[in-house]
This record gives sequence, C-alpha cells and structure tokens, in this order.
Amino acid sequence: MARSPAATAVACLLVAAVFLTTAAAGAEYVKYKDPKQPINERVQDLLSRMTLEEKIGQMSQIERANATTEVIEKYFIGSVLSGGGSVPAEKATASVWQKMITAMQKAALKTRLGIPIIYGIDAVHGNNNVYNATIFPHNIGLGATRDPTLVKRIGEATAHEARATGIPYTFAPCVAVCRDPRWGRCYESYSEDTRLVQLMTSNMVTGLQGDVPANHPKGVPFVGGSKKVAGCAKHFVGDGGTQRGINENNTVLSFHDLMRIHMPPYDNAVIKGISTVMISYSSFNGVKMHENKNLITDTLKNKMNFRGFVITDWQAVDRITNPPHQHYYHSIQETIHAGIDMVMIPYDYPEFVADLVKQVKQGQIRLDRVNDAVSRILRVKFTMGLFEDPLPDPRLHKELGAQEHRAIAREAVRKSLVLLKNGKKGDKQAMLPLSKKAKKILVAGSHAHDLGNQCGGWTIKRQGESGNNLTGVGTTILEAIKKAVSKNTTVDFVERPDKDDLAKSAGDYEYAVVAVGEPPYAETAGDNQNLTIPAPGPEVIKDVCGLVKCVVLLVSGRPLVVQPYVDYMDALVAAWLPGTEGQGVSDVLFGDYGFTGKLPRTWFKTVDQLPMNYGDKRYDPLFPFGYGITTKAAGHK
Ligand SMILES: *[C@@H]1O[C@H](CO)[C@@H](O)[C@H](O)[C@H]1NC(C)=O
Ligand SMILES: *[C@@H]1O[C@H](CO)[C@@H](O)[C@H](O)[C@H]1NC(C)=O
Ligand SMILES: *[C@@H]1O[C@H](CO)[C@@H](O)[C@H](O)[C@H]1NC(C)=O
Ligand SMILES: *[C@@H]1O[C@H](CO)[C@@H](O)[C@H](O)[C@H]1NC(C)=O
Ligand SMILES: *[C@@H]1O[C@H](CO)[C@@H](O)[C@H](O)[C@H]1NC(C)=O
Ligand SMILES: *[C@@H]1O[C@H](CO)[C@@H](O)[C@H](O)[C@H]1NC(C)=O
Repeated sequence: MARSPAATAVACLLVAAVFLTTAAAGAEYVKYKDPKQPINERVQDLLSRMTLEEKIGQMSQIERANATTEVIEKYFIGSVLSGGGSVPAEKATASVWQKMITAMQKAALKTRLGIPIIYGIDAVHGNNNVYNATIFPHNIGLGATRDPTLVKRIGEATAHEARATGIPYTFAPCVAVCRDPRWGRCYESYSEDTRLVQLMTSNMVTGLQGDVPANHPKGVPFVGGSKKVAGCAKHFVGDGGTQRGINENNTVLSFHDLMRIHMPPYDNAVIKGISTVMISYSSFNGVKMHENKNLITDTLKNKMNFRGFVITDWQAVDRITNPPHQHYYHSIQETIHAGIDMVMIPYDYPEFVADLVKQVKQGQIRLDRVNDAVSRILRVKFTMGLFEDPLPDPRLHKELGAQEHRAIAREAVRKSLVLLKNGKKGDKQAMLPLSKKAKKILVAGSHAHDLGNQCGGWTIKRQGESGNNLTGVGTTILEAIKKAVSKNTTVDFVERPDKDDLAKSAGDYEYAVVAVGEPPYAETAGDNQNLTIPAPGPEVIKDVCGLVKCVVLLVSGRPLVVQPYVDYMDALVAAWLPGTEGQGVSDVLFGDYGFTGKLPRTWFKTVDQLPMNYGDKRYDPLFPFGYGITTKAAGHK
C-alpha cells in the first residue's frame, strides 16, 4: 500500500511526539534527587511521594543475616545492622565487608524511589567487630586520659576504619554516666563525673562526624563528608544510674537529678550535631525509657531541639514486656507514640511491618507521627550525602588497622594508665619506671599474654573472648615488655607460678610484672555484685609479690577490690581495657613516657560502700576520683 504524503507526515509527528514524551520523562526533574535543594525541601518532596509501606520500611532496621536483596526490595528496608559479633564471614577482610554492603545498597537503590539504606554497627572502641581493626581502649580508659583532643582523634580514626568496611553509621558514643561499677557496661562510660563525660562526648561526636560549622543550628544532624560517619548517643537516658548497677534495670531519681547527672552529655551531643540517639532498655522510676514520651518527645525532641532520629536498642520493643514479646502489637504502639523513629527489630520484620502498617491504617498510630519519624531518618541520610554517595569506597580499604591509627591507640593506652602506688613505705626509690637492663625478670598472670583479655567485651564477638586467637594484629603486654627491654634481659613468663618453685628462683629476678584482672564481658553478663579479682589473680599477686619486687597491672573494666592486696605490691597500675596496642603499657612502665592518667572513677574500699561517687556526702574511697601519681619521662635507668 502506498502511503499518502499526509499519512507519512502524521506518522512522523506521532514518532516525534512519542520521542518528545520519552525525552521529557528521562529528564524529569526530581527535586529530592537534587543536591542543590535545601535538605528540608528534599525531605518533604521525597516524603510526599512515599506509600505507607515505603515509610514503614524506612523505620525498620533489620539484622545483616536477614538482609537479602529480596527482603530489602520487598520491604523497602531503611536500615541494616551488624549485631555484636555479626560479620559476613569469620576473619572477613575490608573488601568482603564492602562487597556485602554494596549488594545491599544496590538492592535498596533498585526500589521505586531508590532510597539508600544506612548500615550501622557498634564501633565502640574502634571498628571492633572487624578482624585486624585497631582496638582502642574502652571509654573508661579514655576518661582516664583527660585528653579531649586525643578522644577526637580516636573518633576520626574509628570513622575511617568504619568507612574502610563500607559502614557509614556507628552506635557510638556511649555517653552513660556510670554511677555504680557493679554495672556490666561501666567500662563503656567515660566517667562517673557528668562534666568529664560531657567533655569526652563533645570530642568523640566531633571526631566521628566532623566539626559542625560555626552557627550550626542546635539539634540539626551533621556529618562532614564521606570519611566521617553518623554517630549515636546512647543509651537515653539514665542507663548508668540503675539500682545496684543491674543492667537494664530501674533508675530511681528525682527528675531534677536525672537532668543534672545523666542528661547533660546529650545536650553536648545535640550541640555537636549528633545524628541519632539510642534509647535505653532501662526504666526511669518504673517507666521503660522506650515508652517515655515525656523524655523522648517533650524533652529530647522538643525542648532540646534534636532533629536527628531516635532508634531503639536491640529487640527493645519486644522487651517492653516481661516475658518479652507478650503484647508486641501494643508495645509497637507505645514506643512509636513515645517518639521512636527507627526500630532495631532486628529479626522478625514481617510481624513488625504488618503490625505497624495495620495500626496506621486503623488510626491507632497517627500518620503525622510516622511522617515525623521518616522525615528524621531521611534528613540524616541526606545530610550524610548517602543519596549522592551510597556505595562503599574501595580506596578506603587500607584505612583498616592503619599504622597511624595504631599509633593513636598506643598513645591512648599510655595516657590512660593510672599509677596508684609507686613504692612501699620507707623505700628509698620509687618502683617505676622499671629498668630495661635487668638481667632477668618475671612476667606472670592471666592478663600478661592475652589479647582477648586486654581488649575486653565488644571485640570481634559481643562478649569478647580470652586468648590470642581473636584478631590478627595486636601486641600483648608480655610481647610489649620483650620489645622494650634490652636484648640481654631474660624474660620468664609463667602465667601461674608455683609458690615453692618460685621461692627457689626468686632471687634471680630483679623484679616481676604481674598482670591480672577480669575476663571479657559485655552488658548483663558483666554485672557483678562482688567486684573481686577473679581467681587465681589474688593468689598470683600474693605469691609473686611476696617473693619478688613487683608491679601489678590490673586489667579490668572498672575498679575492683584491691585493698586486701595493696600492701603486698610495690607498685599498682590501673590499666583498664587497653585494646590491641600493648606497647602503650611498656612505654610508661619503662619510663619512655611519664604516667599522666587520672582516675575517671572513685576507687572504693569495699562493695558495701557502693554506689559512692565524687561529690557524695559520705565519701571514703581507697583512691579518690582524679587520683593518679604522675611521673616524668625518665629515659632508661
Ligand atoms: C530489676 O532487677 C530485679 C532483680 O533482678 C527484677 O526483679 C526487676 O524486675 C528489675 N526491674 C526492671 C525495671 O527491670
Ligand atoms: C532472621 O535471621 C535470624 C537469624 O539468622 C533467623 O533466626 C530468623 O528466622 C530470620 N527472620 C526471618 C523473618 O526470616
Ligand atoms: C584458635 O582458633 C582455632 C580455629 O580458628 C582453634 O582451632 C584453636 O583451638 C583456637 N586456639 C585457642 C587457643 O583458642
Ligand atoms: C590480618 O593482618 C595480618 C598481619 O598483617 C595479615 O597477615 C592477615 O592476612 C590479615 N588478615 C585479614 C583477614 O585481613
Ligand atoms: C649485652 O651483653 C653483651 C655482653 O655482655 C654486651 O657486650 C652488650 O653491650 C650488651 N648489650 C646491651 C644492649 O646491653
Ligand atoms: C562474683 O560475681 C560474679 C558475677 O556474678 C561471679 O561469677 C563470681 O563467682 C563471684 N565471685 C565471688 C568470689 O563470689
């Protein structure tokens, strides 16, 4: 059939019209994707395009093990986490971590609106779940340094090691003010003193997230670029004030005292642009914090102007009831009403999503509450640049365990050690620094050659683990001593010396270093009502120090009962949980650097004094808050 010229012209026009429509669709301007738009405009634009299911997906944080590409796409998952010790593979490299997160992110980007996930992890003393990462001293040791700029540098290094594995979000810092060392998380607290916690909080948040610009509006989240990470101030609020230090228990205080003792560090975090706040499992005067609208919404969000998002702790919605998960549907309602924005579900996402969708559809939870939650989550994601830069950067692999970070950790160790005793009464000479030129020395105790004990909980595994198998790089105290002393010095290591054998050889030793303390623990498993040095620590101290001039290193997450043994010791050093860089210990033992650490906590005499804190009316410590003998760098004796 021959076409008429008119028919051809019509066909051409049709083709042109189709082409034009397609071209227009391809270039359609999408406001939320435009980085030049103000963040609030981007948030509002994106929110206006979202279905209810997409919104609930943003509020859902699921465990890495569940986060297949199918699940992320089907549920529009907004966030994925590594629970403590949850890793893509044993001894996974930075590249394996990045590949895992890249696959998840690509699934999220494939969804209708292409909203990137935010991946979070407990990088609480370095990127501590990751094999070969630099493990920094736990927070109690950082409190002892009294060095805020060092803490900021640790934050920066931790951010780099997280980014090395493709992770842009850490559940840190813990800004708890631990008021009772019987609490299993006390080592995660910088101090019993609110002001010291405030100082360290400001600096850690700044290290992790970057410096907020001048005139940054209070409460608006801030993350300064693709080598920084979003932080999380936790656990809001009063986690460190529970009765008898029982984890997740009840904090009984007047509102005034809660605001005076436990709240101030949150204000510092908010001023420094903290991105997220995690709620505490604990209760305040009998009300679960996860249900506390007065503190979460009225105080944190409205009075303190926090504009980032509020996240639950792990399975905390389940744990509103005892036994857990009794009235889950109702618990979801209570927590969302209280002001929770993101729920760390982490496993049972189908039930959570179905329940929350239903409650919004039925009007039990208002849509504007959901919109507030999602706006906050999107605000953090836009602020971090996740929409522009969603994928891990392989150029950052080399940041994991980098030499510069290990040097910072070593500096932190030496500044964190607190010298509590240096020489017996009547001694002509102080015990420390030790001589590097001794002919023969003895090293003893369960913590002298044990990287796992040195690192404590939250190291590779949630509870940590004793032994030297935990991670690939690190220096034990024994190895550090061997590196420090003269080549001519014989170093004998006997973990548990036999008293009779030692009696025969004691004269050969110029001095002994005894390292004892606590095994690794985290959270509830670390609660302890007696705070004694675990056996055979006390016997090792008595046996060795009874026969050889000795310095005792106490490797522990908190002060322990030492009063009965102090007289045996020639010197005593609180080493806290120093992490992988044991040479920080030998640096000060041998006088290459002086001791400068100061107690971040009161050292009690007996547990029946507890709780006992700096400023209390009845204050009768063995060593007071702030105590610490300082020495000058002495060089070699
Ligand atoms: C506190 O601990 C006690 C003793 O274990 C327990 O009976 C109580 O239920 C706990 N309270 C809270 C609020 O968790
Ligand atoms: C999520 O993963 C956990 C641990 O692997 C598993 O027990 C659970 O069944 C998973 N949840 C779902 C909904 O598949
Ligand atoms: C170290 O780990 C290996 C396997 O990874 C295990 O076979 C070995 O028993 C462990 N050694 C110690 C001392 O725990
Ligand atoms: C850990 O570091 C050691 C020492 O550099 C190296 O031999 C090993 O391959 C590293 N392992 C991983 C999983 O990166
Ligand atoms: C080690 O001992 C040898 C022989 O007594 C001596 O020559 C050398 O200087 C000593 N080295 C050190 C580092 O003290
Ligand atoms: C002290 O308490 C811990 C933790 O509850 C326990 O494991 C240990 O056996 C107790 N020690 C003594 C000497 O009672």
